Amino acid sequence: MKIRVNPDKCQGHNRCYAVAPDLFEVDDVGNASAANGGVVPDDMKDDAKLAIDNCPEFAIEIVEE
Ligand code: F3S
Repeated sequence: MKIRVNPDKCQGHNRCYAVAPDLFEVDDVGNASAANGGVVPDDMKDDAKLAIDNCPEFAIEIVEE
């Protein structure tokens, strides 16, 4: 599974980082990007889905199932 954060949609709510800190990085202004080039380890898929469901801006996208 691979994810990305759409920078045009991210508003820096940081819920993604709160629920899955290993999968996201936050920049100086609080906007998130996917860690590890977006690659989600198999045992963290549920965390990724939780982050996707928790982003109020729908900014997190699945690039690859
Ligand atoms: Fe951005 Fe959504 Fe995370 S707005 S910081 S991707 S919770």
